[in-house]
Amino acid sequence: LTYYKNITELFKVFQNGYEAASKDFEPQDLSVSVVGRSFMITGANSGIGRATAMTIAKKGGTVHMVCRNKDKAEEAREDIVNQSGNTEVHVHVVDLSETHKVWEFAEAFKKQHPSLNVLINNAGCMVHKRELNADGLEKNFATNTMGVYILTQTLIPLLQKSRDPRVITVSSGGMLVQKLRVDDLQSEKGHFDGVMVYAQNKRQQVVLTEQWAKANPIIHFSVMHPGWADTPAVSTSMPQFHHMMGERLRSVEQGADTVVWLALSRAAARTRSGQFFQDRRPVAAHLPLAWTRSSAEEVQSFMSQLETLAFSVVQPQPDGELNGPSRPQFV
Ligand SMILES: NC(=O)c1ccc[n+]([C@@H]2O[C@H](COP(=O)([O-])OP(=O)(O)OC[C@H]3O[C@@H](n4cnc5c(N)ncnc54)[C@H](OP(=O)(O)O)[C@@H]3O)[C@@H](O)[C@H]2O)c1
Repeated sequence: LTYYKNITELFKVFQNGYEAASKDFEPQDLSVSVVGRSFMITGANSGIGRATAMTIAKKGGTVHMVCRNKDKAEEAREDIVNQSGNTEVHVHVVDLSETHKVWEFAEAFKKQHPSLNVLINNAGCMVHKRELNADGLEKNFATNTMGVYILTQTLIPLLQKSRDPRVITVSSGGMLVQKLRVDDLQSEKGHFDGVMVYAQNKRQQVVLTEQWAKANPIIHFSVMHPGWADTPAVSTSMPQFHHMMGERLRSVEQGADTVVWLALSRAAARTRSGQFFQDRRPVAAHLPLAWTRSSAEEVQSFMSQLETLAFSVVQPQPDGELNGPSRPQFV
């Protein structure tokens, strides 16, 4: 309940967002053609991801939809192709909660495609019961953090050799009430609260983005809050919040606007890499007077734990052969 009170407060902070902020938007920012550029979008069959895929397809980009449900993905693809007239829209069936499979997919993609200009880590979940994936990782963490980490880390070499490469991660303003916790990444301690675990994962995405930006100067990294938008994720995972917000929720297109801007515009590429965005502007990743800042040691501990976990899932066989298509690169 405290979280809902908190996000209702956060909603007040953000609520003028779209209406007020959009008055300052430069319409020509999105007057671009992206023919010849390729975009990978996770969770592209629904909500913000689907709206993003639709806009990019209409602008001529090649779209790689990474989705877990083949039927939903094919239905979305058909709609996108019909509405955009762009047939360069491809479906890849991957469950991002299955860590080893995410790695296999990314490795295979890297071999089959000469370039990838933009990766959009959009898929996200809020699982209310503690469940583990086949690799023994808690499912919210596996999807929202480990899936994003493995996919991005594995694709960095491909992004690096592509022109104007960008990585955008869809986080949430809910992360503002969370400080990075490095002592319980699998949520084994105390009462399990899926909403808080989700918010913690969203903070982890912000920290990851800051670290990636420092380590990979060729790629432009950003992380963002879409605003509270009326999507299946909100109506099914937070029904109370959905009911409370009613008509004040944004449309999916408004929720997708900053993702699209970060992916397409030249103006976005001119901003400093590694920042948190809301309504096409970099905004603070901490509330005023917040206790949510982490020390360098905490960040370092988080990054090393991720790396260790990644290696434990994608580990060498006893005979020295790697358990997968090629040597992993997580550092
Ligand atoms: N809407 C908001 O107000 C809001 C606010 C803050 C942040 N966000 C973030 O925005 C992003 C998009 O969510 P949305 O609001 O657009 O909700 P949505 O319409 O429910 O979309 C979520 C997408 O993620 C996919 N997904 C979830 N788990 C997955 C997995 N294990 N493997 C592959 N795909 C998976 C879903 O696939 P299925 O269709 O198969 O379930 C769906 O395509 C999420 O990261 C969410 O946390 C949304």
